[in-house]
Amino acid sequence: MSESASLIEKVEELKLDDDFVDPWNVTSSSDAGVDYDKLIERFGSSKVDAELLARFEKVAGQPVHHLIRRGIFFSHRDLNAILDMVEQGKKFYLYTGRGPSSESLHLGHLVPFIVTKWLQEVFDVPLVIQLTDDEKTLWKDLTVEQSMKLARENAKDIIAMGFDVNKTFIFSDLDFMGKCPAMYQNVIRIAKRVTFNQVRGIFGFGDMDPIGKIGFPPVQAAPSFSTTFPFIFGGKTVRCLIPCAIDQDPYFRMTRDVAPRIKLPKPALLHSKFFPALQGAKTKMSASDTNSAIFLTDTAKEIKTKINKHAFSGGQVTLEDQRRLGANTDIDVSYQLLRFFLPDDEQLENIRVAYSKGEMLSGEIKKLAIETLQPIVAEHQEQRKLVTEEVLDQFMSIRKLNF
Ligand code: TYM
Ligand code: TRP
Repeated sequence: MSESASLIEKVEELKLDDDFVDPWNVTSSSDAGVDYDKLIERFGSSKVDAELLARFEKVAGQPVHHLIRRGIFFSHRDLNAILDMVEQGKKFYLYTGRGPSSESLHLGHLVPFIVTKWLQEVFDVPLVIQLTDDEKTLWKDLTVEQSMKLARENAKDIIAMGFDVNKTFIFSDLDFMGKCPAMYQNVIRIAKRVTFNQVRGIFGFGDMDPIGKIGFPPVQAAPSFSTTFPFIFGGKTVRCLIPCAIDQDPYFRMTRDVAPRIKLPKPALLHSKFFPALQGAKTKMSASDTNSAIFLTDTAKEIKTKINKHAFSGGQVTLEDQRRLGANTDIDVSYQLLRFFLPDDEQLENIRVAYSKGEMLSGEIKKLAIETLQPIVAEHQEQRKLVTEEVLDQFMSIRKLNF
């Protein structure tokens, strides 16, 4: 059975269960969030296990990034094949993206980009970043002009993370597609091979959806193939690795199903878990609920207020109970914030033990989370100020990359 045919059944099954994950919504009935082991089984991906981590570390020649080491990047497809290529001295390329639906990115959006940057530096490979302003025009209450403007604003946030301009191409679909016939040609090659029945099964489209939505998935699929970017790859076939959160997987299952039929290699994937909403892991941090998210534009004071007011606590209600019973770190959002953003393993473990035993209180772990995030967001804001329109135009210009 093809990957996407089996997927249709799997999505039907998913709706019956307690967790729901698609590119637009993530909900779970559990305070600890989505059951990721079950998700691997349903999506048919593979677990990033101890053996793969050890191999990854050996091939990278250095400790893997803490987001990978701590199991936040928990699932993959064909990562072993990418590591084989590295060992054989062959290059791959990285592809990731962002749907520009808000002025600013939030902390959850940083997760795939942080690991993408780490991979780019470790393996010295080119990177393409797709801004799906077309997608957001179709799905949200945004005009073409508004989405294109948001795409440029979001690109500045992405550039501020420190990507290398010599190895990184950022593009807006609404701008780039008309300038690059190779991309449109690949979109059509893919679109020819996916039926309405398949996309309805994968994405849940209905009769009253605008037809643009139905035609969109091949647009997110096309950058998975190097022939979409002849100015970078000179028409050569280079294999692709896509870091993203697991919600984007439906697009790439579809892509992988089509790839052999257009005689191109399937993209490999590395999937992350969701950064939880401040209110708890029942939903993901989302730009559409401002109280759920810490944005990169938030001030130090706003970060403090949001965490103190909204961050779901796994601690006990009374001081006596907390001292006696300790906290549940699995559902404590402040602890989860630290797991994502505090790189020091020993420090994190000390916090976990102290808080679980009741030696540390909820207010204290919130304070640690606040003090960890404030400088990260402030540093980002400093870097973003340096991203001028000229720098942005450089990243977004059609050109050769060095690798
Ligand atoms: P978007 O803008 O919704 O999200 C951008 C990236 O961030 C991930 N993400 C999260 N990761 C962890 N925790 C969260 N709370 C969280 N929220 C979002 C998303 O999975 C994604 O990796 N259609 C895509 C844009 C896109 C794309 C791609 C993404 C186009 N091509 C290729 C990944 C790979 C979108 O709107 O992402
Ligand atoms: N479709 C994604 C969203 O709405 C945005 C996106 C486009 C993306 N290309 C990507 C995300 C590549 C990750 C990787 O969230």
